[in-house]
Amino acid sequence: MKIAKNREELSICLNSKTQIGFIPTMGALHDGHLSLVNESKVRGLTTVASIFVNPTQFNDPKDFEKYPIDTEADLEKLQSAGCEVVFLPNRQEIYPVGSEDLYLHDFGDLETRFEGAFRPGHFKGVGQVVHILFDLVKPNTAFFGQKDFQQLQVIKRLVQQENMPIEIVGMPTIRESDGLAMSSRNRRLNESQRFESTLLHKVLTYSKTRLKQQSFNDIRLEVQKMFTDSAELELEYFDIIYPDQFIPADRFREDKTYHAVISAYAGEIRLIDNMQLA
Ligand code: PAF
Repeated sequence: MKIAKNREELSICLNSKTQIGFIPTMGALHDGHLSLVNESKVRGLTTVASIFVNPTQFNDPKDFEKYPIDTEADLEKLQSAGCEVVFLPNRQEIYPVGSEDLYLHDFGDLETRFEGAFRPGHFKGVGQVVHILFDLVKPNTAFFGQKDFQQLQVIKRLVQQENMPIEIVGMPTIRESDGLAMSSRNRRLNESQRFESTLLHKVLTYSKTRLKQQSFNDIRLEVQKMFTDSAELELEYFDIIYPDQFIPADRFREDKTYHAVISAYAGEIRLIDNMQLA
């Protein structure tokens, strides 16, 4: 596995590669990330991952400072998964002086609802770094986890708006055996927070089973009650939405698709999850 630390090294590593599968990450890798590497390998692509904790997508500086970093373990995992090239840039490499305000895209409502409402500027930062990484790596296909469902829609919109010839593949959320969606943040949970954090997945499966039987408002109220009973978790938002527009849905219709999205805090740790309901 080759490691490129700057733009020049990256272009040497990618020279003559024609079918590139790309997995952008912020490190602290888990099986969810490795499933993306695996999918790229299964498709026979030259598999490139990047590790860069992007400061411009953190609206909370404390969250940025506390973001877990374990590059040595990450590199071992990528190597075992068969990744061929890892791009490991520093901040200056991604944002050369004077370029900080470039690639700030407008994603409309998609960047201001739900995650965007609670993390102002977050999707601008994601769009910015992904655009820069796409320009440098020039992938044919890029892989993202569906756990960050709104992010996946933002990236699809970025590629569409910019006419980038890149296929965006969303891969299923990988879960712990008790249902908790894998996330780099999970390692910061203490024992009782970890125990209660399965509530997010329970709420999503609950809303899936109730979808056709109850009004969506009743489901919303039930979910709020479930969180009131939790000692460790505080609900930030839960909603049942039309996934293409990210707007709340009112009632079930056979011809529509629905998605539930949720975010909650365990102490200072923010957890998100989502599920297709119908
Ligand atoms: O999902 C992530 O880890 C990040 O948001 C991404 C896509 C690597 C951009 O920094």
